[in-house]
Amino acid sequence: AAAPLEITPLAGRIGALIQGVRLSGELAPETFAAIHQALLRYKVVFFRGQHHLDDASQQAFASLWGDVVAHPTVPSRNGTQILELDSQHGGRANSWHTDVTFDVDYPKVSVLRGVTIPESGGDTVWSNTAAAYEELPEELRALADRLWAVHSNDYDYAATRVEPDDAGAQHYREVFRARLIEAQHPLVRVHPETGERTLVAGHFVKRFAGYNTHDSDRLFEIFQHHITRLENTVRWQWTTGDVAIWDNRATQHYAINDYGKQHRVVRRVTVRGEVPVAVDG
Ligand code: SIN
Repeated sequence: AAAPLEITPLAGRIGALIQGVRLSGELAPETFAAIHQALLRYKVVFFRGQHHLDDASQQAFASLWGDVVAHPTVPSRNGTQILELDSQHGGRANSWHTDVTFDVDYPKVSVLRGVTIPESGGDTVWSNTAAAYEELPEELRALADRLWAVHSNDYDYAATRVEPDDAGAQHYREVFRARLIEAQHPLVRVHPETGERTLVAGHFVKRFAGYNTHDSDRLFEIFQHHITRLENTVRWQWTTGDVAIWDNRATQHYAINDYGKQHRVVRRVTVRGEVPVAVDG
């Protein structure tokens, strides 16, 4: 039998380090089941030193969760479904989001591998959107339960750039928005595996259905504020060969853009999700 995994929580409400496993597409079923259970519980799990992984084996590992799906507009790396985020080509995801929520059945799981990591800086922060829902006052939970939001990839990818005319940002804006894609999701979805209620927000939200932009923006700030409160987060300091896996149905994340001209490359595989189910079905 496979050796038991060592699972160490990294923060009070989200995140755990898993040790004692070499990730691959050929994991023993009980090892995969243990990783999956940890993922459901901690929302994001981290592995150090997975230097043996290449694009193909990263993708094979991710496919243990289901169908791997390419990003809808950004070309994948050759022969794979992998999205590369390269800081020298505008790949800096420094805004709070859940991956690809403008898709109707947006990814359930993302697997991210650190390929080139700066000497200092370039951490990523994740937040627990179930904990954020849970801490809302009862009246706000009741309101959240009834709201629906339009998510769109018509998002300003240059909004958080320090240099306004950054050519990389321009490039990414073009590829990420090559085709307009929109979906409506309930603000609160019932997690298909844990039954928890999670908030579905992040930077792809355009507005709440039935609300004007003014009211919508203020409502968004209230819910997004709870999601990004430090109490609901965990921060990961990368080294090359690290792997982070998150439950994209129960988290948001933010890649901190504090490393200037240093080079940072990460590669992401996403797994097809389910159409979100609202609290009333
Ligand atoms: C992402 O948003 O999926 C990438 C996060 C990162 O670059 O750390």
